[in-house]
Amino acid sequence: MEKCVIFDLDGVLVSTDELHYQAWKRLAEELGIRGFCREDNKRQRGVSRMASLEVVLERAERTYSMEEKQELAKQKNNYYLELLANLDEGSRLPGAMETLRYLRGQGVASAVGSASKNAIVILEKTGLLPWIDKVSCGLDITKSKPDPEVFLVAAKKVGLKPGQCLVVEDSAAGIQAAAAGGMKSLAVGPLSETLGGDFCAVNLAEVTEEQWEKILGSVG
Ligand code: BG6
Ligand code: MG
Repeated sequence: MEKCVIFDLDGVLVSTDELHYQAWKRLAEELGIRGFCREDNKRQRGVSRMASLEVVLERAERTYSMEEKQELAKQKNNYYLELLANLDEGSRLPGAMETLRYLRGQGVASAVGSASKNAIVILEKTGLLPWIDKVSCGLDITKSKPDPEVFLVAAKKVGLKPGQCLVVEDSAAGIQAAAAGGMKSLAVGPLSETLGGDFCAVNLAEVTEEQWEKILGSVG
């Protein structure tokens, strides 16, 4: 294969971004942290669990030690895993499955480039894993988006150069990471027009085959 599309997971293929928000909100409430809101949550998109925790703790009235922070991140993940238990094929975002099928038919590789350490379990539960050639996730990296590491690892796993890859992202950090890694990007999601991607669409279902031809033609 000469080209690859590297998909972010949360908010691009699967609607887990809302579940992350619910789990952080539960933790914030338990800590007595007031005012944690969806606007804060926008800055948690694409970044690591610990970086997401720092966003919650910006509103805290006291400081937390590293040990306490690790415990809080673990607690949030437990709440998140409880929510993931209900995940199934219905949690795929519009156009996700159709896009993966289309790309396979075109001989284009599909990979996942996600900061999440839960990526494999999410792909399994939503039935998407057989359609993904390689997964690069939070377990493979030491640097969080906007560092390009997660996408560079994905390209390496597929055996292609960065210039042969297109990144699909719903976060500002992810779009910046794609550019930093020398990859073109397609921004999706409610904020897509504001993210500065090379291409943008509200969701994958909106991207026609004609548009895919144009997008893929700009890669490699
Ligand atoms: C990203 C999400 O995909 O994964 C972030 O957009 C999240 O919000 C990050 O913090 C880490 O996820 P996890 O599942 O390892 O806590
Ligand atoms: Mg995302």
